Amino acid sequence: MSAAHPPGIERVLFTEEQIRQRIQEVAAEISARFRGRDLKLVGVLKGSVFFLTALARAIEIPLKIDFLAISSFANRTTAPGLVRIAKDLDDSIEGEDVLLVEDIVDTGFTARYLLRTLAGRGPNSLAICTLLDRTARRIVQVPVEFRCFEIPDRFVVGFGLDYKQLYRNLGHIAVMRPD
Ligand code: IMP
Ligand code: MG
Repeated sequence: MSAAHPPGIERVLFTEEQIRQRIQEVAAEISARFRGRDLKLVGVLKGSVFFLTALARAIEIPLKIDFLAISSFANRTTAPGLVRIAKDLDDSIEGEDVLLVEDIVDTGFTARYLLRTLAGRGPNSLAICTLLDRTARRIVQVPVEFRCFEIPDRFVVGFGLDYKQLYRNLGHIAVMRPD
């Protein structure tokens, strides 16, 4: 382990520069796709905040931003997929083109729940944009329209992703050392 790494970090998976470049590319796709429409980025707190702000600044068309927070029930092994909204959006999404912005789509339970919930509110369109996609662990199928990186089956932190609420502020994305 390099001395620059906090304890628990095994290696860097994506550098700050790689992340910045990839976000520019995805933002260009989004700008092209949603030009002339009513784009709203919906961030899932707290993990997606760093990604959402970087993405929003790189998108070149007008957009609105709103947030929701979810709580996944503690025991992910005995009760996976139990998700509820802990803080709802401030505003209606009716008639808007909504991009659900996620830090990572893993099992897919969170994304599926949010897509179903938001679909019931009459958006003009609804799609997922995720920083990381770990399809190796997918349990329920969800359509992922925009993704920055596919990742291997390892726990990662940084750029918004946490381990016990720590490491969100790392500029890069790193693999955690297994304990
Ligand atoms: P889901 O399994 O697709 O429902 O993902 C639920 C949530 O688990 C994600 O939004 C993240 O907050 C969290 N999560 C999943 N994998 C990781 C990881 O490798 N690092 C940090 N958080 C993760
Ligand atoms: Mg999350």
